[in-house]
Amino acid sequence: MSSSLDGRTVVVIGRGSGIARAVTLATHAHGARVVVAGRDQDSLRAAYNDEGITAERVDITDDDSIAALAERLGQVDHVVSTASARARGRLAELDREALLRSFDTKVIGPVMLAKHFAPRIAEGGSFVLFSGVAAFKPAVGYLGVAITNGAVDFLTRSLALELGPIRVNTISPGVVDTGIWDSLGEDAKSAYFTDLRSRNPARRIGVPDDIAAAVIFAMTSPFLTGVTLRIDGGEPLT
Ligand SMILES: NC(=O)c1ccc[n+]([C@@H]2O[C@H](COP(=O)([O-])OP(=O)(O)OC[C@H]3O[C@@H](n4cnc5c(N)ncnc54)[C@H](OP(=O)(O)O)[C@@H]3O)[C@@H](O)[C@H]2O)c1
Repeated sequence: MSSSLDGRTVVVIGRGSGIARAVTLATHAHGARVVVAGRDQDSLRAAYNDEGITAERVDITDDDSIAALAERLGQVDHVVSTASARARGRLAELDREALLRSFDTKVIGPVMLAKHFAPRIAEGGSFVLFSGVAAFKPAVGYLGVAITNGAVDFLTRSLALELGPIRVNTISPGVVDTGIWDSLGEDAKSAYFTDLRSRNPARRIGVPDDIAAAVIFAMTSPFLTGVTLRIDGGEPLT
């Protein structure tokens, strides 16, 4: 059983930028055929012009869409889901709809991905899901993000047990500058990053390639399953 990605088929769900893009390019550089899948197939297609990267459509909150993608792709080796719809805000600002969307995208969606793709995963294959540092370092304003990411951690272990020998692992990024922090405004974002950089043990903010390297490790480590790899600069220790 080879743990190389050369010639393997890897499905990366998410957008054409940020962490999903870094994962796609790193996986492609390791010789895999990469299928990127998201809600906007045209923009995904426009984001890549390399041979060996094809764009597909999937809405991870829609079971028919997931089943149709699995049917179209047939046998694959690894499925990576970066999809996320984070429910940020303090308790008083949170509404049920945002929380449900967050869970649907990051927890229920991956359950349904596993259901439809597991019968099509080739020997040595795996699922890689995404949690996040908010699960391991609670902060006011991030309750919705924390409980969603925490559920992914539990999902990882349950799926790994049920699906073995298909491996299931999760990556938990710390703060990575992918554009998601831009909504804070330029000054607040800069102050937040400066503070974080000065406090976390790695003394830096993450970059998408830090996370892509962990995804490659998860896909190519045949004895790794049921774990959440925290690639977060040690932020929960602070
Ligand atoms: N960046 C960070 O600091 C950080 C920290 C902790 C955890 N993470 C996690 O790392 C992952 C990637 O983060 P990121 O910052 O690169 O990107 P992100 O902004 O979280 O991207 C997630 C993408 O998922 C796609 N998506 C949302 N709903 C979907 C659905 N129903 N079906 C299919 N796709 C859907 C959206 O793309 P479209 O709008 O194009 O559909 C969205 O841009 C996420 O799971 C995130 O929670 C990131």
